[in-house]
Amino acid sequence: MDGICLTELEQEMQEERTLTKEDIIESKKERIDEKLIGVTFGDVGITNLECNLCNAVDKGEYVKMEHPSVGWVLGQIESVERKTNLSVEKAVEISQGEEVDIEETMIANIKVIGYRDRRGLLKLPGNPFRAGEKIFLADSKLIRDVLGLKEEENGAYVGKLRGHDINVHLNINSIAQKHLSVLAKTGSGKSYTTGVIIEEMMKHEVTTIILDPHGEYSSLAKAGDVKADNYFDVESRGYGDIITEFSPSPEINPGSKPLKFTFKNMKPRKILDMTGVNKTQSNVGALEGAMSRLEEAKGFYNIEDVIRILKQNEEGNSSSVISGLERLGSKNVFSAKGTRMDEIVRENKTSIINLKGTDPDIQAFVVERISTAIFELRKRNKIPPLMMFAEEAHNFCPQRGKTESSEIFQTIASEGRKFGLGLAIVTQRPAKVDKNVLSQCNTQMILKVTNPNDLKAIESSVEGLGKGLADEIQRLAIGEAIVSGGGLSEPLFLEVRPRETQDGGESIKVVG
Ligand SMILES: Nc1ncnc2c1ncn2[C@@H]1O[C@H](COP(=O)(O)OP(=O)(O)OP(=O)(O)O)[C@@H](O)[C@H]1O
Ligand SMILES: [Mg+2]
Repeated sequence: MDGICLTELEQEMQEERTLTKEDIIESKKERIDEKLIGVTFGDVGITNLECNLCNAVDKGEYVKMEHPSVGWVLGQIESVERKTNLSVEKAVEISQGEEVDIEETMIANIKVIGYRDRRGLLKLPGNPFRAGEKIFLADSKLIRDVLGLKEEENGAYVGKLRGHDINVHLNINSIAQKHLSVLAKTGSGKSYTTGVIIEEMMKHEVTTIILDPHGEYSSLAKAGDVKADNYFDVESRGYGDIITEFSPSPEINPGSKPLKFTFKNMKPRKILDMTGVNKTQSNVGALEGAMSRLEEAKGFYNIEDVIRILKQNEEGNSSSVISGLERLGSKNVFSAKGTRMDEIVRENKTSIINLKGTDPDIQAFVVERISTAIFELRKRNKIPPLMMFAEEAHNFCPQRGKTESSEIFQTIASEGRKFGLGLAIVTQRPAKVDKNVLSQCNTQMILKVTNPNDLKAIESSVEGLGKGLADEIQRLAIGEAIVSGGGLSEPLFLEVRPRETQDGGESIKVVG
């Protein structure tokens, strides 16, 4: 048997008192099963090695090799190539039905990931590996240790390392403090994966707000139908007891509470912006006058009261302001008293702001109002620390042009960390999201992306991704992701775990 003998193993077990009995059994078993895959040759470096393969191995697989000074080091197969002596002429002979002997060698290029030193820091060896060193498939313990895959109590279980029965937990504090992005082309599983992350937030009692333009997240309240014996060990569960849904259009979204904003808190110029009415001096003056009269008369008032006052005023011509206000009133987002923020943000609970059926301009207003209120209240410590998820974030913080929420998203992305306000942006168009926001998201869940501009945006915003991984993004299958940050030391391939709750984003068939 190659590798470590039993006495050495026992010695190691004594040194690492933190190992559980199961860990020891598992590691013992794995060492016996240890699989030689090849041997290093040629010029051998510190960060990259070439090895001839004696056993088939896939690109992306984790391997280990012993370094003369530091012991076992983790590496990853970066490329695999079959080198042959087959010439064009010989290939022609094969096409004519002749038998030709082909000599071939499989060569793999290995990227050295590193090892953990005594203090637990990830390091690369200080000098090259030896030529002729045997390369083995890496064992689970080494993979876990080096990649930082700890099953922490406050970790978010998002799935398994692709091709390995190793659970991937992300550090929830790191996700919240350094923000998160979920990026994928349409239909690749953004909402599904975001749902998995939100389930973990709810399970760990993180106060959560979901800005949900399509009403896809209401299904988090209901248990899904995962099979009991699934590989991922996930159980069906609904979170209806901790979720409250709010919507400016409760008639379209039954079960949600009406979401309203106090009209009297609005600035006249802003109201005219929202109504599309010219901000001429006379329009602004008429609106200011009517609002200050109501301010003096009573505590709370609504759009209808302002319209009534404007209609009473026979001197000025306020017809365009009146019709603008009537249009705004029909959108049903204002009332004399708005929804209280402490009703929306409740400690350890989740609120969904369901914007399905709400006009895009009103959506932008709602998102701006809620995000600003959350940021200001967090600054004053009036609400608990929380995580805010924004679906279709390219609409709320676009790279080109501005929307009402552009500024507050930039502020939360750059300052939210100081105030315990985590942001998660979910988008199918990374290139269309404000780079100042995207670059602040230090945990990334990247699913399949094919658009070249989006790939470029991802490459420039994700540290340590490298060209190899960036190319892989185009080839990811549904249910697979590349994850970076979140307490991991290296970006890795993830098989996303099944949802505990119902999946709200299933595609709708147009036939049969
Ligand atoms: N990990 C997964 N396991 C099983 N099915 C999945 C997984 N991820 C996604 N799907 C399925 O793939 C389909 C698309 O997923 P989803 O709606 O999450 O994509 P999306 O990227 O949010 O799409 P859109 O851009 O339209 O919002 C859904 O039917 C979903 O059930
Ligand atoms: Mg979606």
